[in-house]
Amino acid sequence: MSKSAELKARKAAAVPGGVATKGIYVVKAENSELWDADGRRYIDFAAGIAVLNTGHRHPQVMAAVASQAECFAHTCFHVAPYESYVRLAERLNALAPGDFAKKSLFLSSGAEAVENAIKIARYFTKRSAVIAFSGGFHGRTLLTMALTGKVMPYKRGFGPFPAEVYHAQFPQPYHGITTEQALADLERLFHSDVDPKSVAAIVIEPVQGEGGFNVAPFEFLRALRRVCDEHGIVLIADEVQGGIARTGKMFSIEHSGVVPDLITVAKGLGGGLPLSGVTGRATIMDAAHPGGLGGTYGGNPISIAAAHAVLDVIEAEGLCARAVRVGQKMHSRLQALAKEHACIGDVRGLGAMVAFELVKNPATKEPDAALTASILAHAEKRGLILLSCGTEANVVRLLAPLTIPDAVLEEALNILAAAIKDATGVESARAVA
Ligand SMILES: Cc1ncc(COP(=O)(O)O)c(C=O)c1O
Repeated sequence: MSKSAELKARKAAAVPGGVATKGIYVVKAENSELWDADGRRYIDFAAGIAVLNTGHRHPQVMAAVASQAECFAHTCFHVAPYESYVRLAERLNALAPGDFAKKSLFLSSGAEAVENAIKIARYFTKRSAVIAFSGGFHGRTLLTMALTGKVMPYKRGFGPFPAEVYHAQFPQPYHGITTEQALADLERLFHSDVDPKSVAAIVIEPVQGEGGFNVAPFEFLRALRRVCDEHGIVLIADEVQGGIARTGKMFSIEHSGVVPDLITVAKGLGGGLPLSGVTGRATIMDAAHPGGLGGTYGGNPISIAAAHAVLDVIEAEGLCARAVRVGQKMHSRLQALAKEHACIGDVRGLGAMVAFELVKNPATKEPDAALTASILAHAEKRGLILLSCGTEANVVRLLAPLTIPDAVLEEALNILAAAIKDATGVESARAVA
């Protein structure tokens, strides 16, 4: 029995089945590669689910962690605060779009950041309703599950969910949902379900992550800004997956020129250590009473030290520009593959947040989740870790560390091409039109 198989059996016996995992038990990782318990090497196109924008164990990040561990590992910011937290808040306040005073607070997970953004918006507006979008993903806590617009695997069986959460359509040009239709759907919501004057916040991922790497058309984001201004609603950009240089800008919403009121960040910020945050207008951020925000571990000093190093590395290594180049390389290769394989219905994304959608028939666009799973399995056999996404589980997302060397990127794209060939060969009986 291989070590991986043995660990898989132990995991099945000791960990609940709801905690789904791949079968790759890692023992070592470096930049864009990792090695499993049996010594197999993989190229990592999952990046810890969009966390390792600066790669596994970036030397600068690891040095910052080690150096902070020499001083103190935890005090709780509420008990004995530290300068590095304040300085990280200053840095994010300066980096976030918007020519106005901003403030930031730090937490541990993406879901916690979204929960806090909603708490802050509710306190500020003295309203309760929140609007999110179909296909959106905001986390696995009760409120963020309610906000999430994807039933499987996130919502089934876990209700009832908190009240006053409404979903509007996210525009999806590939599936015929235009910006105009999505805006009409929001209007419908205002007429049929919730008074806009009761809405505290609209929360949107400018590029949907788990929902399938759907890029919100910029005119849609601009229209949302107008709607929020008209009705006094707080606009929250959930940048947990798309933020921190992933799309070629520090925050993905910057591509549209829209300035949100609040931004949630996590994942890439900590470079592999758990850290999240909310950054936004000081007037809104300051609404809540002392003690209403925070938590025991929020802004852990080791995670904060890592985040400073991450921001330094992004700047020093030009990772925003690198994200654009990595994304271009992925796009052009996928577009060439789409010409050979009719099952690739759409190639989309922003910067290095790139995905392709698999369909049984390009005319009907019927989703092909089985083919998607097969491509992932073949890629893994060949040494490339990939993740799927999309409400129909028929989208393959490429999330390489932005620090990936060109040669490794090329190697990974060759493996991907071979895996698509393997899988479409295997799947040929299901006749791709
Ligand atoms: C856009 C978005 N928001 C929130 C979350 C939740 O983050 P976490 O898993 O750290 O709670 C995620 C996680 O994938 C995400 O992609």
